[in-house]
Amino acid sequence: MHTNPFSFGALALDRAFTDREAEVRQLVSDMQNGQDVLVYAPRRYGKSSLVLRAAQRAIRKRILVGYCDLMRTPTKERFAAALAKTIYSDLETAAGQAIDRAARLFRGLRITPTMEVDPIDGSLRFVFHAGRRRAAIDDTIEALLALPGQIAAERGRRAVVVFDEFQEILTLDGHFPNLMRAVFQEQPEVGHVYLGSKRHVLERIFEDENEPFWRSAKRLEIGTIEPAAFARFLRHRFEETEKGIDGEALNRVLEATGGHPYGTQELAYFLWELVPTGHLARLADVEAALEQALRSEHNHFAKLWDDAPHAQRLVMLALAEESTRSLYAADYAERHDLPAKPALQRAIGALVAKEIAARDAGRVYRIVEPFFADWLRSEQEALGLRDELRGR
Ligand SMILES: Nc1ncnc2c1ncn2[C@@H]1O[C@H](COP(=O)(O)OP(=O)(O)OP(=O)(O)O)[C@@H](O)[C@H]1O
Ligand SMILES: [Mg+2]
Repeated sequence: MHTNPFSFGALALDRAFTDREAEVRQLVSDMQNGQDVLVYAPRRYGKSSLVLRAAQRAIRKRILVGYCDLMRTPTKERFAAALAKTIYSDLETAAGQAIDRAARLFRGLRITPTMEVDPIDGSLRFVFHAGRRRAAIDDTIEALLALPGQIAAERGRRAVVVFDEFQEILTLDGHFPNLMRAVFQEQPEVGHVYLGSKRHVLERIFEDENEPFWRSAKRLEIGTIEPAAFARFLRHRFEETEKGIDGEALNRVLEATGGHPYGTQELAYFLWELVPTGHLARLADVEAALEQALRSEHNHFAKLWDDAPHAQRLVMLALAEESTRSLYAADYAERHDLPAKPALQRAIGALVAKEIAARDAGRVYRIVEPFFADWLRSEQEALGLRDELRGR
């Protein structure tokens, strides 16, 4: 018996990962060169998976790579703990007793961490108790940020630190970009990879000439996965697990997801479950799988709808029915009951900021949240969302 070869939500590692060869190669070179990079993509496009894959290759080339996810560090203490952990376990791997090594490494910090052994995997964990010593925790973080440079120099190796969900740095402290940049400028031999979604927040950090990170990193923007490459991956995985998928079904899957990495894996997951071993997935199976995907995302979509003010709802419905290059054209506005220009501009701006809608390379505005357009259309048919908006 085979298990489902598709997965969504977790990192796409090893055989779950497809395509993006050019991006991986580029990132590995950047890591070798110590070039700082900002990897930008909307949520669930596969940023973390991509950088982890590049990191695995870089590590094989003897580069030291540390990884810190700012989404998991809502406080300064936790940020310090995560930095300490990655410095200790990914960068500094000198010989000796674990506890002694860690003690030596963190001896000079203003706040010395308490060390705990994880009961499950036996690894070391660091806990920083700062209490009211707010300046001390900032100093401690500053010193931790400088450690990769020292370790790289001592070991004669290139080091790279990856900051995932980097935009969260601003919620920790609005001054942290300054603090980090000052440290990083002193360690040009350490590379940094910043990952993030929320384009407007990142742009504030990297594109504003009054900000410390202005033009400090090369930009790598990743898009959806090319449908032909994704199609080969899907077919292959079906065949390896004694199932198949016909051409029509494959086209429908990729038409529904547009090559969105998470969305495609999600739809493929449901589809695979529906097809018995030894059978082909056909068009009707894809429609059934799509329905399941919509059901499983229903709460999420309902929240997007509920949280949106009136004008945004009108724009969402319009784009779900008809993507457009001319959002502001009179006939489009009339067909879709859109508000007048200033309100319309604000609404589309908000939807783009929330990454529900986006303008693609061909300057076409469309809904990019996977399956959301399908959900809107089916709810519209079932419930008449537009009538609800008209107040009936
Ligand atoms: N290269 C890939 N090949 C196949 N599937 C992928 C690839 N990259 C990502 N995916 C799919 O997308 C999902 C999300 O990937 P990942 O967590 O790396 O994205 P992310 O952009 O970091 O997301 P988030 O914004 O939630 O942090 C994975 O669970 C997987 O299903
Ligand atoms: Mg991620």
